[in-house]
Amino acid sequence: MAHLRSLILLLSISLWPLPGLSQFCESGNGYCGLENVSPSKILIKGGTVVNADHQEVADVYVEDGVIVAVRPNIKVPDGVRILDAIGRLVMPGGIDPHTHLAMEFMGTETIDNFFSGQGAALAGGTTMHIDFVIPVNGSLSKGYESYLEKAKSSCMDYGFHMAITKWDDIVPKEMETMVQKGLYFPLININTFPKLELIKPSILGINSFKFFMAYKGSLMISDELLLEGLKKCKSLGALAMVHAENGDAVFEGQKRMIQLGITGPEGHALSRPPVLEGEATARAIRLASFVNAPLYVVHVMSSDAMEEIARAQKSGQNVIGEPVVSGLVLDDSVLWNPDFITAAKQVCHESPDKSKRAWKSTSSSIINWNSQGTDHCTFNSKQKSLGIDDFRKIPNGVNGIEERMHIVWDTMVESGQISATDYVRVTRAIREGSDADIIIFNPNSTFHISAHSHHSRSDTNVYEGRSGKGKVEVTIAGGRIVWENEELKVVPGSGNFISMPPFNYLYHGIQKADENYFASLKAPGCGKKTAKLKTETIRPKKPKPKKPGTCGSVTVFVFRYPWITDPNRHMYI
Ligand code: URP
Ligand code: ZN
Ligand code: ZN
Repeated sequence: MAHLRSLILLLSISLWPLPGLSQFCESGNGYCGLENVSPSKILIKGGTVVNADHQEVADVYVEDGVIVAVRPNIKVPDGVRILDAIGRLVMPGGIDPHTHLAMEFMGTETIDNFFSGQGAALAGGTTMHIDFVIPVNGSLSKGYESYLEKAKSSCMDYGFHMAITKWDDIVPKEMETMVQKGLYFPLININTFPKLELIKPSILGINSFKFFMAYKGSLMISDELLLEGLKKCKSLGALAMVHAENGDAVFEGQKRMIQLGITGPEGHALSRPPVLEGEATARAIRLASFVNAPLYVVHVMSSDAMEEIARAQKSGQNVIGEPVVSGLVLDDSVLWNPDFITAAKQVCHESPDKSKRAWKSTSSSIINWNSQGTDHCTFNSKQKSLGIDDFRKIPNGVNGIEERMHIVWDTMVESGQISATDYVRVTRAIREGSDADIIIFNPNSTFHISAHSHHSRSDTNVYEGRSGKGKVEVTIAGGRIVWENEELKVVPGSGNFISMPPFNYLYHGIQKADENYFASLKAPGCGKKTAKLKTETIRPKKPKPKKPGTCGSVTVFVFRYPWITDPNRHMYI
């Protein structure tokens, strides 16, 4: 696997044309050449290696992008770059599961592209992110191609989710293609085990699809589409994600504000109170329950939404809520600031709930800390000014990709709410054979956030002036030292697309629940015996017309590929 990945890296460097250097490169904030790439042999000495289950003082030896050894007192030959980590924590680089780089949105494009956004991420200790492909006129394949193009300037690894913005005969077929993209291996169909049938399953691709219940007139989908999407996701083992806000009501709220003469950024918060997030979250959860599909609610902001997720989880439903950094530490009071830019820079989808204290105190149990995102979606002051006369035109989005690891550490670990091992739980483990995506973190140092020193191309930062305990001193991505001594050394084109397998852990139990459902119907011909389970591999067969008086069958997919799932990439998936 490691060799394959090295090969892909080599190919990607040699085959992809380098894009024009971004403003970020030109400003001297990052090394942008191809030579002088950091050494391939690195020994991290004397640090406390933190993994999800335990922490221990050990050395970490990295060679050719892979962690070769983790144990105390490793002896290495001369010529190995030694990094002193005494008194520091050695942790896996972070994964940000929710970003928007180079996204065309609300009449403009996010200021951070795949190079500047990823450079910022690396400076903040994040070594992989998952971005959202936005379809082009509803076409998933066109959207995918356009994002592959955008991502050519990548300097770190990335994966994709994909938005679904319309529904016709083509979209569900394209969803199949997206899940199937990537490498094909003959695998064993565990459903027919021990027959050991060799199949060519759909593996390693885009296995998560986002449905926007807001942004009326552009990205918003109907309940009918959401239901179709949930069913299709379930059939593919893909994860359905929702942006849960009642878009019709937000639209109504916006009209109301304009009628009241409220045109400033505060109109954004006033037009979308938490109840609208709560309502859409509840609706999505119930629809997912109706078709027994797992659900991932992105950027949970309000306690209304959180209560809904908590209730569903308690009832055993496979729902997770994604926390975002802005929701952890910001609240919407700044939207009333008389300075337009100060207020507008924090305009993003739902506003962080004013009752965020309640949010925070219950969050660790409800929210899936395995998927702490940022929704990094950055627009500069000029772009935010598109809405100077009308808050509805302020591009929605805030920064966070660089700040995430620091803010989460300071807010959650430093305050004692979660442990250091929780912090790295289910991100990448530091173990032999893993890809060398590592940070050296000084818990006794201090971070300071400012637009003057950050690596985003934006001229503002929603966390301006914030400082706290803990500092990422070194970032190693793919075995290369990319952040050290406050200096970035990144190479456009060196990042790789990481495809991900379907059927994440949220699918556990889904088949059993379907069986129970069929058994519970007690309709003639629909008992346990006739509720037949069948599997489908690549192309779903045309459903046969149902015979009257029978219950038909349910298509359940039971392929799981734990043996090909790189444990290092096994984030929330
Ligand atoms: O407000 C934001 N971040 N807009 C980006 C799209 C979304 O809702 O995730
Ligand atoms: Zn969203
Ligand atoms: Zn988003």
